[in-house]
Amino acid sequence: MTEDRLAFGTATADEVEEVLALVRSAYRGEASRAGWTTEADLLDDERIDAPGVAAKISTPGSSVLTARTPDGELVGCCELVLSAGAPAYFGMFAVSPTRQNARIGRRLLAHAEALAAGAGADAVEMTVIRQRTDIIDWYARRGYAPTGEVRPFPYAELVNGRALRDDLAFLVLRKPLHGSAEGGR
Ligand SMILES: CC(C)(COP(=O)(O)OP(=O)(O)OC[C@H]1O[C@@H](n2cnc3c(N)ncnc32)[C@H](O)[C@@H]1OP(=O)(O)O)[C@@H](O)C(=O)NCCC(=O)NCCS
Repeated sequence: MTEDRLAFGTATADEVEEVLALVRSAYRGEASRAGWTTEADLLDDERIDAPGVAAKISTPGSSVLTARTPDGELVGCCELVLSAGAPAYFGMFAVSPTRQNARIGRRLLAHAEALAAGAGADAVEMTVIRQRTDIIDWYARRGYAPTGEVRPFPYAELVNGRALRDDLAFLVLRKPLHGSAEGGR
């Protein structure tokens, strides 16, 4: 499968469990080690629960974008939050560990950026754990730079688990948008 045959969509409440399974497999535990980047060495929790995913789908201004293969397999997802007069927020970015490094991630990110630009956002922001230099470098190659803001890691909000170190923190990354970003790089 090439990334050109991906179908992008917006998740509905019926897709909560499918999205949840994808996100957990990409971020945590042994399954995530099949991918090239994971949080398994930093966190031993479940990343998010079903009500958390459902809220990202149902909250006004928030959506969960999906990428599926032609036969319907969910291979990627992300959260996009649009608020008037503020940068779009991009999060919960996941590609199935066994499907990574095939350009699905960059296509889905470019799709989210195009939606944000189309909705009038002039920038996209995200938070990334500061220890994750591989993914920070990946975002830098897609045009994202640290704003200088550092946010505390929400240790008290972990889902059914614990952090594996006590020095986690979020860097805020931002990319200015200049018209449509669709196309991928
Ligand atoms: C981040 C993620 C969504 C990217 O998806 P993807 O489909 O693999 O992305 P792409 O195929 O478009 O890009 C793959 C990149 O990985 C790089 N890569 C592959 N193996 C790598 C390695 N061992 N170390 C560092 N980079 C590597 C490739 O060089 C390529 O980047 P480049 O084209 O800029 O050189 C996916 O890895 C994922 O789900 N990770 C787990 C969850 C996560 O970390 N989400 C982001 C939280 S901020």
